[in-house]
Amino acid sequence: MPCKAACACLALCLAATAAAALAPPAPARLLAWLPFGRRSPGHLHSEAAEAHRVHSLPGWGKLSTRLYSGEVPISKDKAMFYALVEADCRHPEDAPVVLWLTGGPGCSSVGTAFIGEHGPFFPRPGSTSRLMQNPYSYHTLPANMLYLDAPVGVGFSYSNSSDDYKQLATDKGMATDMVDFIREWRKLFPRLARAPFWLAGESYAGHYVPHITLQLLEHAGQAMNSGEERIDFKGFLLGNPSTDEEYDNEGRLTFWWSHGLISQNVKKAVEHHCNFSEVIITQGIEVKTKTQNRKCEKAVQQALSEMGPIKMQNVFGDKCLDKRFTSATPPAPSWLARLLPARLARMLGSKHHPDPCITEEGEAYLARSDVQEALHANRSGALDWSYKGCTEGEVFKYSVDDQLDSMLPLYRRINKDAPHLRTLIYTGDADGMVPLTGTRRWVLRLGTEEGKREKRHWTHWMDPNGQVGGYLEEYEDFTFVTVRRAGHEAPYTGEWAGRKLPDAR
Ligand SMILES: *[C@@H]1O[C@H](CO)[C@@H](O)[C@H](O)[C@H]1NC(C)=O
Ligand SMILES: *[C@@H]1O[C@H](CO)[C@@H](O)[C@H](O)[C@H]1NC(C)=O
Ligand SMILES: *[C@@H]1O[C@H](CO)[C@@H](O)[C@H](O)[C@H]1NC(C)=O
Repeated sequence: MPCKAACACLALCLAATAAAALAPPAPARLLAWLPFGRRSPGHLHSEAAEAHRVHSLPGWGKLSTRLYSGEVPISKDKAMFYALVEADCRHPEDAPVVLWLTGGPGCSSVGTAFIGEHGPFFPRPGSTSRLMQNPYSYHTLPANMLYLDAPVGVGFSYSNSSDDYKQLATDKGMATDMVDFIREWRKLFPRLARAPFWLAGESYAGHYVPHITLQLLEHAGQAMNSGEERIDFKGFLLGNPSTDEEYDNEGRLTFWWSHGLISQNVKKAVEHHCNFSEVIITQGIEVKTKTQNRKCEKAVQQALSEMGPIKMQNVFGDKCLDKRFTSATPPAPSWLARLLPARLARMLGSKHHPDPCITEEGEAYLARSDVQEALHANRSGALDWSYKGCTEGEVFKYSVDDQLDSMLPLYRRINKDAPHLRTLIYTGDADGMVPLTGTRRWVLRLGTEEGKREKRHWTHWMDPNGQVGGYLEEYEDFTFVTVRRAGHEAPYTGEWAGRKLPDAR
């Protein structure tokens, strides 16, 4: 496969792959990236990097995909854990490097995105030990997909100093560690150091990515003076990103209500008692307010209880009911379900895809010592807790103030200082966690303030099966794309049957 041909533009490619069945949502010129020249494939990866090569994985066997994973020390005590899936093409150095960050805060990119979203493998539905191929892995775009566990205490990233876990993790501290990681990682993989570079992520990565972007821009100035090779930073893409709680919380309430998940009264109570800038809803279960506003917390709890055990991240998808992973016994079917004819019940019941337990299966797979050994993870014995996909609140705590901080001022600075960076915000329209109803409002606000113009009016985009894939609009600084029928993890939950890579040439 040629290294730069599959898509004229990575951002659209990823969003499109995220989509159900993919055509480029817009003409390639929207986000077409700069043409890249051919480079001589002179240097290979460093010896240290070759020691991170993963040749086989339990439950799969020998790998044909070039996978690397291991620790990169970034300071005296800290080591960041990454997995790199090399682009599926002859000259990976011609393909982009995409650094992917899963949110949380405190959730592992390797444990969710690599193993359960757009990496080369998924756990087989129902299995915690066997893998199946993901034919739509992003490395086939082609792109060099770099998954990073961050901050330390997440996934297999760690610190040998317990002080690093006692301190609150912050957006700024996280971004500093990321920039250090990027610099060290480029030394390990000099062959990919000049490739076009993109940042990407979902959910709380909506905080990580703008912070890292600003620090990378600052760093670029210093690096120039010190003779360090420039990062060919192209831009970023974010899916269902946490951005500004005032918008995101208002969007949640609107979405829950408009999808019939909560009552009119409870919606009114939340509106009456809550200051949306001060509420955090973590993983759809826990409610905190900065000012300990009990009336607001109670009203939001009422909303969550009215919703019942629905999968907030994909309101049209199913929750995992596998007894191995849930302590609670699944509730008995209600009288309504018992009255339904069996065939109708099956139709309404869970389908093979998306696998509702993929997160839990991936977590159990990565907790296995043979898998950890194969991935060069948890070698030092410094990770003396048992493996979990998300560790915030257990291994370390993340600053509440930072979680409530608005990213809009950061975007304004980025758009002013680095207007060449391309930005794509995509949103799975079935996500009730960071729903499109909030995201589209802040995108509109940023897109049209200070005399800025809309470049392309709201319109639908079609998938190759002739169905509407979603909607898009474009502003001077942002492109916004919705992905129909996709949840919080849009690249996985979008229906993949018949999914094709767009041919934007
Ligand atoms: C942490 O300590 C272990 C055990 O002494 C050591 O093997 C490892 O290299 C240390 N990691 C870092 C990042 O210093
Ligand atoms: C809501 O909270 C924000 C942030 O704490 C504060 O600045 C604002 O004044 C509050 N709004 C009201 C109406 O109390
Ligand atoms: C790391 O390995 C140790 C020893 O095998 C194990 O007890 C611990 O649970 C592992 N930690 C993680 C985070 O997987």
